[in-house]
Amino acid sequence: MLKDQIINLKIEAVGEILEACSLDELEKIRATFLGKSGKINALTKEMPNLSNEEKIVIGKLLNETKKTIEDVLRQAQDKLSSQKENHEEWFDITAPGIKPQEGHLHLVTEAISEITSIFASLGFRRTRYPEVEWDWYAFEGLNMRKNHPARDEWETFFIENLENEKMGRGILTPHTSSGQIREMEITPPPIRMINIAKCYRRQSDVSHAPMFYQFETLVVDKGISITHLKGTLDYFAKNFLGYDRKTRIRPFHFQFTEPSFEVDVSCGLCNSKGCKFCKGGWLEIGGCGMVHPTVLKNCGIDSSIYSGFASGWGVERNLMMKSGLKIDDIRLLYNNDLRFLKQF
Ligand code: PHE
Repeated sequence: MLKDQIINLKIEAVGEILEACSLDELEKIRATFLGKSGKINALTKEMPNLSNEEKIVIGKLLNETKKTIEDVLRQAQDKLSSQKENHEEWFDITAPGIKPQEGHLHLVTEAISEITSIFASLGFRRTRYPEVEWDWYAFEGLNMRKNHPARDEWETFFIENLENEKMGRGILTPHTSSGQIREMEITPPPIRMINIAKCYRRQSDVSHAPMFYQFETLVVDKGISITHLKGTLDYFAKNFLGYDRKTRIRPFHFQFTEPSFEVDVSCGLCNSKGCKFCKGGWLEIGGCGMVHPTVLKNCGIDSSIYSGFASGWGVERNLMMKSGLKIDDIRLLYNNDLRFLKQF
């Protein structure tokens, strides 16, 4: 009888210990079983009533039971107290987390998507044409015959050993106007194109980089006039550069447009009063004009029915003139210095 009681007591104690969830609970279990007036001592008190042989067997059993309960209890205490330490480390919800570094698109990439969407709202379709181009598309088709002095302005990189009988030499395109010819070659009017691409020229100073982006507009339809051109440029300047900015066009010369103009925008720093940055209140932003009849003819478009306008401006140059930005060296955009790029 007593033997069974002791065995049941052991099972009961170990079961409770294993189910305990806190150190406090374990302490209560210890007092219940091992404490001065606990269950083990209560059974020990019955020893004097036993025979000598029984005393040996029961005494041994009681000692083993006590030791087992003590061992299991200690293990459970160790486990719960180490979990408690871990919990303290892991569940400090006030500890600041480690923030992942956040990046953003490059300024020029952002400018390109902004330009694309401004023109898209006027119905212009974005195109891309090759950077490695034939002479025909960049010059000859645009009314600049071989050895024409006008070509000097586009300080062109030529590609060695690349020549085609009909198309001329292989070059890195020095302007996006090559896209005018490519577009008209494959798209019958009406055309509303915005061609944004990398261009290359042998140049490098505060306002010129050997690789840069241009965006070219081309509109060809019936009855297109200078007013459409001027209206489009104004819409762009206001939406991209700043709402209070104005544009003006000055007569100029390009072989592929007639008449041709250079476009100025009012200076955003002095509000066209004249300052060190603009010298006279206006900043030059790019060329434009009405598509030359010879260029239309070169692309198989009848200039007695259709007319068009085109413009070609530098992305970086326009970006540098945006209201609120003050970037005074184009090369800053491309030397990948994070201290510069992070500011935007
Ligand atoms: N392609 C000219 C340039 O690079 C700009 C231009 C484009 C002028 C279209 C007139 C019409 O300077």
